[in-house]
Amino acid sequence: MNPPELVLDIHGLTRRFGDRVAVDDLSLAVPAGSVCGLVGPNGAGKTTTIRLLLGLLRPDSGEGTVLGLPITDPAAYLPRVGALIEGPAFYPGLTGRENLTVLARLSALDGSHVERALRRVELADRADDRYKAYSLGMKQRLGIAAALLGDPDLVFLDEPTNGLDPAGIREMRGLMAGLAQDGTTVLVSSHLLSEVGAVCDHVVVMARGSLRYSGRVEDLAGDEPRISLRAEDPADLAGLAALATGMGYPGAIRDDDLVITAPAAQAGELNRRAMLEGITLVRIEPHAMDLEDAFFSLTGAA
Ligand SMILES: Nc1ncnc2c1ncn2[C@@H]1O[C@H](COP(=O)(O)OP(=O)(O)OP(=O)(O)O)[C@@H](O)[C@H]1O
Ligand SMILES: [Mg+2]
Repeated sequence: MNPPELVLDIHGLTRRFGDRVAVDDLSLAVPAGSVCGLVGPNGAGKTTTIRLLLGLLRPDSGEGTVLGLPITDPAAYLPRVGALIEGPAFYPGLTGRENLTVLARLSALDGSHVERALRRVELADRADDRYKAYSLGMKQRLGIAAALLGDPDLVFLDEPTNGLDPAGIREMRGLMAGLAQDGTTVLVSSHLLSEVGAVCDHVVVMARGSLRYSGRVEDLAGDEPRISLRAEDPADLAGLAALATGMGYPGAIRDDDLVITAPAAQAGELNRRAMLEGITLVRIEPHAMDLEDAFFSLTGAA
């Protein structure tokens, strides 16, 4: 079987601004038709990476291909790439449809592209409302529609979930999943794994310009089983920790819980031992290592 075609296949991408290395030796391998998350705290280098891939910035070093074409020749691949980067500028007094029509004309695209883009972001029924009357979520979707005008094979979405409420974030994830289903590869950045992780086949975690993790979201946390324990009397937490450590399951106290590394099957035994020590448990919950925790420990963000 042939490996999947890599839409992004980049090695050693580096860009400095003065002494600061904004993107440091970054490699990316993104298969066609997938959603790849580019996740990291503020200043991690996400926007710089996207700008480098779009040819808006010149890399200091790095090689590879975008849509099979050399990164050194953005003009060759840009016609097949769409991007939403740092809030697009639209005319507030024009409707969504009129705004897209202006952009389509600039790219010599006809009205059918506008209608298709409006449908893909599910904005067709509000397309005749003025931009200034749109909610933030609708503005973001119009931005994505603009990125989709030329029917790109690859889209870069820089923090499309920024500022959206939970319903808007869920909508945005649905939209990205739909794009991938149609065969459009999506590279989406976010400073929160929780906002995009669920829709990503693959995540690239960056911090301070460099790669901290690249792989499946599920594997980010590893497969270490955890059990969260809570005592009725918070004063018992230290005693509970000692008991668990004695059983070979060290852990850490987090808020009101003791979180230990132990298989789920130990829950009953832990309960019995705690009871013998006079500790009443009000919570015993086996779970996988928390993804957000894994993310924060990788990026060093608080
Ligand atoms: N044009 C520029 N001139 C100087 N420094 C820059 C420039 N653009 C970015 N940087 C620096 O490069 C680093 C990475 O910035 P970048 O905007 O790529 O991060 P980001 O991950 O997109 O962050 P955010 O989540 O805040 O959008 C930062 O330290 C930033 O100050
Ligand atoms: Mg940014």
